[in-house]
Amino acid sequence: MPTRAWFSTFIYCAPLQSVRIARLNDELASECAQLRDYDTAGRRCSAKNYPGGYTSYASLNELHRFSSTFAALEKKFARHVRTFIQTLDLDLRGRAVRMTDCWVNIMPPTAAHSLHLHPLSLISGTYYVRTPRGCPGLKFEDPRLDRFMAAPPRRTAARRENLSHATYPAQAGNVVLFESWLRHEVAANRVDAERISISFNYAWA
Ligand code: NI
Repeated sequence: MPTRAWFSTFIYCAPLQSVRIARLNDELASECAQLRDYDTAGRRCSAKNYPGGYTSYASLNELHRFSSTFAALEKKFARHVRTFIQTLDLDLRGRAVRMTDCWVNIMPPTAAHSLHLHPLSLISGTYYVRTPRGCPGLKFEDPRLDRFMAAPPRRTAARRENLSHATYPAQAGNVVLFESWLRHEVAANRVDAERISISFNYAWA
């Protein structure tokens, strides 16, 4: 092969576990709903910054420290994060990677999450709890887009590594991991049911 791909961007997606996913997601969905009921400050903040939806990002963003359900979930994430870090060939110099933030997102119809990244973190990710058929996925943007300048657009049938956007369908039971500098967004939810996910950040401690 005379031409090789370099400077890759990796995104990880795998089922959290192979058994009892439905039961776990039922438990998580009811805890997420309880959090929304309890979290007055979060609902107020969401009304301003996350129209139509609920996120505990600004109010209850260390759920792994305060809820046994989320602490157990953090344990389940660990092997996925380890695998992803190996794929990235990161040399952690003996330092630990630890979860710093963990929060809930509930997106009823019309709620959306515009393009953003997660500053001050190393690895970010999302776990899907409720994903009604047709709900929006997680859309990533080529981190080099701002350098393309006069470059022509890509063919619609371009090979995967040449696409400028990648959308991972939201699928309950899956965990998606990416490097925190990678910009991403969630389009408006156009189905008549709530999409529930749990997002998190890991830092290099
Ligand atoms: Ni995000």
